[in-house]
Amino acid sequence: MARTKAATNGARTNGLQHEDVGNIISLEHVNVTHPDQLLATLFYIVGMGFTRDPYMNVGLNNMWANLGEQQFHLPTRDPQAIPGHIGIVVPDLEALARRLASVKDQLAHTRFDYSVEDGYVAATCPWGNHFRCYAPHPRFGEILIGLPYVELLAPPGTAAGIARFYRQVLMAPTSVKHDAQGTAAAVRIGTYQWLSFRETDEKLPPYAGHHIAIYVANFSKPYNFMKTHGLIMEEVINHQFRFKDIVAPDSGEHLLTLEHEVRNLYHRMYRRHMVNRNPDQSQMSYNPGHDALIPVGAR
Ligand SMILES: [Fe+2]
Repeated sequence: MARTKAATNGARTNGLQHEDVGNIISLEHVNVTHPDQLLATLFYIVGMGFTRDPYMNVGLNNMWANLGEQQFHLPTRDPQAIPGHIGIVVPDLEALARRLASVKDQLAHTRFDYSVEDGYVAATCPWGNHFRCYAPHPRFGEILIGLPYVELLAPPGTAAGIARFYRQVLMAPTSVKHDAQGTAAAVRIGTYQWLSFRETDEKLPPYAGHHIAIYVANFSKPYNFMKTHGLIMEEVINHQFRFKDIVAPDSGEHLLTLEHEVRNLYHRMYRRHMVNRNPDQSQMSYNPGHDALIPVGAR
């Protein structure tokens, strides 16, 4: 018994907690709809430099855009804009700015915009989704291109409850930070991804219907909570279920709406290989053998 206790204490104090990950293994895609695949191609593929998935949804009713091990899912419907912004890592910010400049005129009649800021390139898609694009950095692990985080705006006073929801229901490590920009909850995902919920005083638009897809190691416990609280949006099918209400886990008070596609590790797309191209290739400066982009690795 004493030995067990000592071993437990050792686990708490051995300094290895930073090597642990929580129950949400990865954030795989963000789904936002929009009405025009030609404009989406100009922004996501030509401007941002992502790769149209060559295998899935290659028609006009949807496009999957690969960036590293993540994707945007872009079905053709009325436009959706996420209140907040999406964090992106790209290999080269100067090359990104050049690509965005190259599509500026063709997207001039839309909400498209971009600017070079201190430490990142800000970009806005033709329908108002905001992106902050960073160069590779140790805080993103060894990701050269990918989607490390989504920051969602949330009503005042909700960050602590949102953190409790993800900690207790999804079993993810969370924290609440108060800084010069205000209060935000952070939810850790796998090794180098996270969700951020930043409180704002500004009036938030009605929930637009956008969604995120996550993979979880323990599937049954989050499902049980949703089921017993009447929060299942779509029942289990194909190793996934959906919910959209983030609630205070104790009182059930509704805090924020965000559809989650919750997949378990038996989902057949878990660890699917995403094709990534090197967007710097051109006929004038073609580099033989460098068409593919390896999204993770040493710089
Ligand atoms: Fe999805």
